[in-house]
Amino acid sequence: MKHIVKSWDDYQKIYQYSVEQPQAFWADIASEFQWKKSWDKVLEWNFSEPNVKWFQGGQLNITENCLDRHLESRGDQVAIIWEPNDPKDQEIKLTYKELHQKVSQFANVLKKQGVQKGDRVCLYMPMIPELAIAVLACARIGAVHSVVFAGFSANALADRINDAEAKLVITADGSFRGAKTIALKDITDDALSHTPCVETVIVVERTKQVCQMQEGRDYWWHEEVASVDADCPAETMDSEDMLFILYTSGSTGKPKGVVHTTAGYMVYTYYTFMNVFQYQEGDVYWCSADIGWITGHSYIIYGPLLAGATTVMSEGIPTWPDAGRYWATCDKYKVNQFYTAPTAIRALMAKGLEYVAPYRLDALKVIGSVGEPINEEAWEWYHKYIGKSQCPIVDTWWQTETGGMMISPIPNVTPLKPTFATLPLPGIQPCLVTQEGKEIEENGVEGLLCVKYPWPSMIRTTYGNHERCKQVYFSMFEGKYFTGDGCRRDEDGLYRIIGRVDDVINVSGHRLGTAEVENAINEHDAVVESAVIGYPHEIKGQGIFAFVIVNDEISEQKLQKELKELVVKEIGPIAKPDRLAIVSGLPKTRSGKIMRRILRKIASGEADQLGDLSTLLDPSIVEEIKSLV
Ligand code: WT7
Repeated sequence: MKHIVKSWDDYQKIYQYSVEQPQAFWADIASEFQWKKSWDKVLEWNFSEPNVKWFQGGQLNITENCLDRHLESRGDQVAIIWEPNDPKDQEIKLTYKELHQKVSQFANVLKKQGVQKGDRVCLYMPMIPELAIAVLACARIGAVHSVVFAGFSANALADRINDAEAKLVITADGSFRGAKTIALKDITDDALSHTPCVETVIVVERTKQVCQMQEGRDYWWHEEVASVDADCPAETMDSEDMLFILYTSGSTGKPKGVVHTTAGYMVYTYYTFMNVFQYQEGDVYWCSADIGWITGHSYIIYGPLLAGATTVMSEGIPTWPDAGRYWATCDKYKVNQFYTAPTAIRALMAKGLEYVAPYRLDALKVIGSVGEPINEEAWEWYHKYIGKSQCPIVDTWWQTETGGMMISPIPNVTPLKPTFATLPLPGIQPCLVTQEGKEIEENGVEGLLCVKYPWPSMIRTTYGNHERCKQVYFSMFEGKYFTGDGCRRDEDGLYRIIGRVDDVINVSGHRLGTAEVENAINEHDAVVESAVIGYPHEIKGQGIFAFVIVNDEISEQKLQKELKELVVKEIGPIAKPDRLAIVSGLPKTRSGKIMRRILRKIASGEADQLGDLSTLLDPSIVEEIKSLV
């Protein structure tokens, strides 16, 4: 394939070409695909509306490129290896031929249920093959998938279903998570009592636990697929037709639906998958993310399948039956490229090397990290004990909004530096700006990370609210996409992501808005006001700290318990505060704005560096909070 970087010289040449002639560069890659009709225009853009259109006039279906395109050359090659929660259970291997057939079959089920091109379908499912099949089946018929991570609560699910106005929901009776089972259908039923738009529910039988099936609304997956045929021609889609919505948290308000479209997303996930993992024919690749997040969309399903790769999908958790599960799975399938999150690395590192020792990891060639900054200790451990000092670590920086990896080393080609995402991939033009929006040209600086030129898989809009997309990403700095991240560029021009500069926190690689958690806490009758911040947490990266003002005489113990339950109910277990302090006031400016910066400093043990407190309405509150924390 074109523009795969194999040497430092390649990197420089290809990068330069991608900046000087971006349209020709991306057209080269796009032309490797199967198009029903070629594009008329590679790119049209402005960042002020914003309006970004790639490959206009082109027509295609992404599933033809993920599946049909490979049938002749690798129909019998394994496309997906599914590793079940329980290692004693049998794995499932689906060849490209089998996957093509299952996707087509389920696409016919969706059609039979009246799903049409452009309709939204919500997937609230465990990590089972049916999830990947359902994603692709939606794309096959031009329906827009909206996958909701199965750890979210009924309320969070209902919000997402309603925002997308999904008419069909796909779920399972239950899901296995280590030694636990979760009653997914019950949670879905709960959500569905607040979602008037949903007409149909399809339920996969996974745990065989008892659940209610509502006549005329709920159907079993296995019964439905038995009644349709296995041939489903792929719908013709325009390049800019919506492929999926994925909800993610921001500084304010409810999570927003990030919209990705067909052709650009296809071109970019394929290209970055090939470049960053240096995937070779026959390799086995594993990304341990959940398909409920962008990492799973782009680098379990689309990128690898577009590349004709063998992709592992695992249902379980890293610590069950024991902390060796990842390494056992790498050994079992002789995984060549492994991609995971720093939080998992830190958790497994803490369990000790005896969980790594029993397994052969010598098939590994590249190991990756994503989702949050990786600290030096975790980087070194991963490099030494998992990569055996032989495998480059690709610390990949990107976001739900970017659709694919943006800044990352290219293994055995570009330099590695622990805790640095290093260099932009070809086609990506990052820049650092000051608070005032002035671009910083020199090296050895810190600034706000922006991108100044479009790339194919960038966010197109936030579903149902284009203004919000413009406000959040494109109005901070004129003519630039603002990432929300602070970043350092060292003397050699290598990038190191410092973390969010907005009110977004990153807990175990999961992104949460502090406002979202506050809103949940404020639902409690006894709560007057709250402020939520992230603080450094050894395993999770950031922990959640809630400061709460209450009006009632309520026992602290009871309140602690109730507030945690409330957050779990409103959002899900991932948002449960790690620490909760009852305070009599919050540090506010005279205009009433909570100074979260002060709370962050105190919670991070930097109470001696609070800086200027003269703008505070009531400085004495700071002393109270310091003594509580
Ligand atoms: C935020 C995006 C990208 C898929 C998973 C997360 C942080 C992501 C890195 C990295 C330091 C990182 C950023 C970013 N982040 N990757 N390699 N080093 N920070 O996607 O949920 O949209 O979160 O995750 O802060 O803005 P997401």
